Amino acid sequence: MEAAPIQSESFNLGFIGAGKMAESIARGVVQSGVLPPQRISTAINSNPHRGIAFQSLGVSLLPHNSDVVEHSDVVIFSVKPQVVKNVVLQLRPLLSKKKLLVSIAAGVKLKDLQEWAGHGRFIRVMPNTPSAVGEAASVMSLGGAATEEDGELVAKLFGSVGKIWRADEKLFDAITGLSGSGPAYVYLAIEALADGGVAAGLPRELALGLASQTVLGAASMAIKSGKHPGQLKDDVTSPGGTTIAGIHELEKSGFRGMLMNAVVAASKRSQELSNRLQISFFFLDERVNRFLHNSLLPLSFFVRFYSYWLVLMHAIAIFLSIYLKKTGNECE
Ligand SMILES: NC(=O)c1ccc[n+]([C@@H]2O[C@H](COP(=O)([O-])OP(=O)(O)OC[C@H]3O[C@@H](n4cnc5c(N)ncnc54)[C@H](OP(=O)(O)O)[C@@H]3O)[C@@H](O)[C@H]2O)c1
Repeated sequence: MEAAPIQSESFNLGFIGAGKMAESIARGVVQSGVLPPQRISTAINSNPHRGIAFQSLGVSLLPHNSDVVEHSDVVIFSVKPQVVKNVVLQLRPLLSKKKLLVSIAAGVKLKDLQEWAGHGRFIRVMPNTPSAVGEAASVMSLGGAATEEDGELVAKLFGSVGKIWRADEKLFDAITGLSGSGPAYVYLAIEALADGGVAAGLPRELALGLASQTVLGAASMAIKSGKHPGQLKDDVTSPGGTTIAGIHELEKSGFRGMLMNAVVAASKRSQELSNRLQISFFFLDERVNRFLHNSLLPLSFFVRFYSYWLVLMHAIAIFLSIYLKKTGNECE
């Protein structure tokens, strides 16, 4: 059955997982007027306090995840990555192709999501924490059966909490390393700038305010001016001036290389974690899966090491037997 396009003005949106990220998205969607709160629903899992934030927005709290799915045309899975498989599989009988499915679970691949749901009208989105203040940098990738209209609808939803790009799913680990982990690098930079200000004699509060606003202002300049950051830097470095003296110190400490390394390290870690998620069995408890993973991974390294060792020994044995045969023949 072909999936009918969802009317972008009058659809119902449901969140499976009423956590922080779901709350940010729901708030953005309501405050930007993309959807009225009556069209949004979620269900509380175990923590009743989570309901308060959603209720204050006017979002409906339904008793079960299944009620949320039944009431929704677009379902956003916003549970932790370790539980997304169980949750999708439990709801599978209700996840018809009429519903557009979205996952924001970090590291969970479209191939798996589509398999668990039983169809490919799935979109994977990687948002980041500044969605809480409407400044997210999100990226989405469309599953096999998601249409252009589905992509536009999701862009509209996530556009209400920041900016959203579209990219091939194979780039998601790199995206995680840059925009997923990036806010933390910038927090570190803000703290360090403020510490520098204090070291140079500023009161702490003033230093922190100046550091945060300077980062915000510089980011705005990079986005709004349309100029390359290198050009913006050149524009503010006068010969023999203060800024070039500061930049010289940063370059001596390998500032750019450190940031590049941070992004590459976080991307690699994202890849490792998403591979780790694959070694799990949906019919087993999460703790059993964690135990199996912890025991299977070292075992797989051991098997790999042992097989390399066997191949090497085999090669040495063949070489020796040829050599001995040859020298034996020569002696005869
Ligand atoms: N936070 C970020 O910056 C960020 C960025 C990118 C992607 N993400 C992704 O967004 C997802 C949510 O992250 P978050 O920070 O919002 O986490 P969170 O605040 O812990 O939210 C997860 C929610 O899922 C609920 N939940 C757990 N099991 C459930 C079940 N079986 N049925 C229904 N709800 C269930 C939890 O409820 P209880 O607490 O009551 O169990 C909790 O409210 C994760 O997959 C994460 O990878 C987050």
